[in-house]
Amino acid sequence: MRRWVVLLTLTALTSLLVTVPSTASPSADESEACPWLDSGLPVENRVRQLLGAMTLDEKLSMVHGSAGPLEFVGPVYAGLVQAIPRLCVPELGLSDGPAGVGNSHTGVTQLPAPLMLGATWDSGLAEEYGAVLAEEVAGKGAGVALSPSVDLIRDPRAGRGFETFGEDPRLAGVLAQAQIRAIQDRGVLAQAKHLAAYNQETARNTRLGNAVVSERALQEFYLPPFEQAVDAGAASVMCGYNHVNGVHACNNTYLISQVLKGQFGFDGFVTSDWFALHASHAAANAGVDMQMPSGCYFGPRLRDGVRTGKVALSRLDDMVGRILRQMFRHGLFDRSRTGSPDAVVTTPEHVAVARKVAEQGSVLLKNGADLLPFQGVDSIAVLGRAAGAGVIGSGGGSAHVIAPSIVTPFDGIKRRAAREGIDVRFAERADAVKVAEATDVAVVFVSQWSSESKDRGGIALSHADNAMIEDVARANPNTVVVLNTGGPVTMPWLDDVAGVVAAWYPGQEYGNAIAALLFGDVNPAGKLPVTFPAALRQAPAADPPRFPGGHYDEDLAVGYRWYDQQRLRPLFPFGFGLSYTEFSYSDLRIAGQAEAETVTVEATVTNTGDRRGTEVAQLYVSHPAVDGEPPRLLKDFEKVELDPGRSARVRFTLDARSLSHWDAEAHRWVRSAGDYVISVGGSSRDLPLAGSLRAQRTVATSEPTPPPPPGAPEGGDDALTKLANAATCPSEGAYAAALGAASLVGLPPGEQAETPPRNPSSGG
Ligand code: BGC
Repeated sequence: MRRWVVLLTLTALTSLLVTVPSTASPSADESEACPWLDSGLPVENRVRQLLGAMTLDEKLSMVHGSAGPLEFVGPVYAGLVQAIPRLCVPELGLSDGPAGVGNSHTGVTQLPAPLMLGATWDSGLAEEYGAVLAEEVAGKGAGVALSPSVDLIRDPRAGRGFETFGEDPRLAGVLAQAQIRAIQDRGVLAQAKHLAAYNQETARNTRLGNAVVSERALQEFYLPPFEQAVDAGAASVMCGYNHVNGVHACNNTYLISQVLKGQFGFDGFVTSDWFALHASHAAANAGVDMQMPSGCYFGPRLRDGVRTGKVALSRLDDMVGRILRQMFRHGLFDRSRTGSPDAVVTTPEHVAVARKVAEQGSVLLKNGADLLPFQGVDSIAVLGRAAGAGVIGSGGGSAHVIAPSIVTPFDGIKRRAAREGIDVRFAERADAVKVAEATDVAVVFVSQWSSESKDRGGIALSHADNAMIEDVARANPNTVVVLNTGGPVTMPWLDDVAGVVAAWYPGQEYGNAIAALLFGDVNPAGKLPVTFPAALRQAPAADPPRFPGGHYDEDLAVGYRWYDQQRLRPLFPFGFGLSYTEFSYSDLRIAGQAEAETVTVEATVTNTGDRRGTEVAQLYVSHPAVDGEPPRLLKDFEKVELDPGRSARVRFTLDARSLSHWDAEAHRWVRSAGDYVISVGGSSRDLPLAGSLRAQRTVATSEPTPPPPPGAPEGGDDALTKLANAATCPSEGAYAAALGAASLVGLPPGEQAETPPRNPSSGG
């Protein structure tokens, strides 16, 4: 709390010190003076013309933010690149974040956390989510959405797990692609973050936050979501706070220049995470194109670098050109900006998207004796602070979004129950048992805060919450638990309760969504995007040297791959989620040879229950043993909605990459000869259909990673430059140390409901 309040206060103060940006559209004079405003010209010509007209200082001003040395963020937005009026270059605001407009802005929609979007497995919803983000970011007058986070959950304690799409690169990649396209279709640049293997907060932005990870794990697991983001046309990528194999991510030639720009063909720009730059010339040569939020490394320090030849002028031109290319490509020179930081940008349509994602992303984990949906119920106990004042709509840190108001579970259930004349009573912990004893069903709400800058200490709920659940379950056999958490938790009371719903951080429409699900107006369709371990010690990186120690010894066995490889039974497996109906799988058909460019796999899904429902059919590939892969890897999925008794064919596509593994000696993808088993079903542990595909020959399926570009050695600046850096960037070091230290202190509390229930014990 303390640290975040300090940050928010500083943010607010900095915002007060600046003037609000103007929204100028090019006049006829400007068009004449600035021929690159002609949108009929090819983008590359416009970039060349404009670059040719820029002075060295103007070029430098494009490659960094405009925050002062003691400011934690840019003016108005998280970051701001100044306009160059002489050349008709508009300013470029960079706005958080992955769950809606952040940076203390108000008048915005608080969307459910990206992890909840992950639980929808729905690229259509990811598009709608991206559209809301883009419209609100643009409405606030910014040009870049610092979204999506395509990091993966390596450990359930990860403080920023809620900002991600979960633990699987394929799921994350598909959702990221849909979201990026939707953002950029609306003229806002997307920024995929944080390159790469940024999986923990502990010791962040210090040398101790070092991911020691194999090339193969990077290539097969942590990097593919970035590749998918690039394939979707992402305009920008943010490099992270962590070190990777001893080299800072924002100074990492391998990650940025060889893989992102070389292997993936990324032609956009790379922005440093805020205060994540620790070098000037070396970072520019490693491939970073823009410093945020200030210019202490990429301002005068970079000018010196260009003057002394330590950074080639052609590299500076490349940096500026990459930024301009994206601004031209997405029309930032062609439209006058209409947004403003004070605008109210939330709309009823956006709120409807928030609700839909909360409904579709809630995961029904247990439904004993078919207690849910409520039927023939006359009274409901809504229990726990987390149903009212203790609700958490949005996680903490840069992804935090301020809701105009949150519909609490108590509000939502009370309103829905009123339609049927059902009595709803609320009680906090002290009176929970008494109220539960007197009602037909009891719904216990519990929440747990997680935030950027601090990993969770464990995955247990508080003792008090666990005790409340146990006490209520003893008092009322019809007890349902709703988990309002940023990730997996343990459930020592699981056998004693009738139902469990994972509701993540569900955004401002929480209460309406959970009521619709409990009453059966909406049939649960969410599936876990992350494994829920039975105990923390079961998790892949549970050993301290792995987490937070940073030794990625589990290698490829991350997430469900670990539990499968170790033959462990998690509490709830990846991909799992119940519905109020049931589905069966039949008639697997695999069309094509492994040698073909794509193989099509089809299966029939049938709704065998008695209500309309939605299933996420999942396809996993098992490699020939020679590849040394974990037992099963998700390669495709398809969501299908079916009336009772109806069937549909679901269709999956496998390409050469789907059957390939990374050959760390040849530095490329290779498909081995052998048999590949294809399994299809409703979760990673429920795969009733299986077939196989044979590849006759071993073949390379990609080019190798290119070598480092000339002049881009790994490592930091030379000694002289380091000295000069220390003089121009004193706050960077201090801030890095503060970030590292903050990661080691306690988590701030995170309750966010605006209005606690007015008449708690009577429900009125
Ligand atoms: C976070 C980024 C965020 C940036 C700007 C950093 O602390 O790591 O994800 O976009 O701040 O707020």
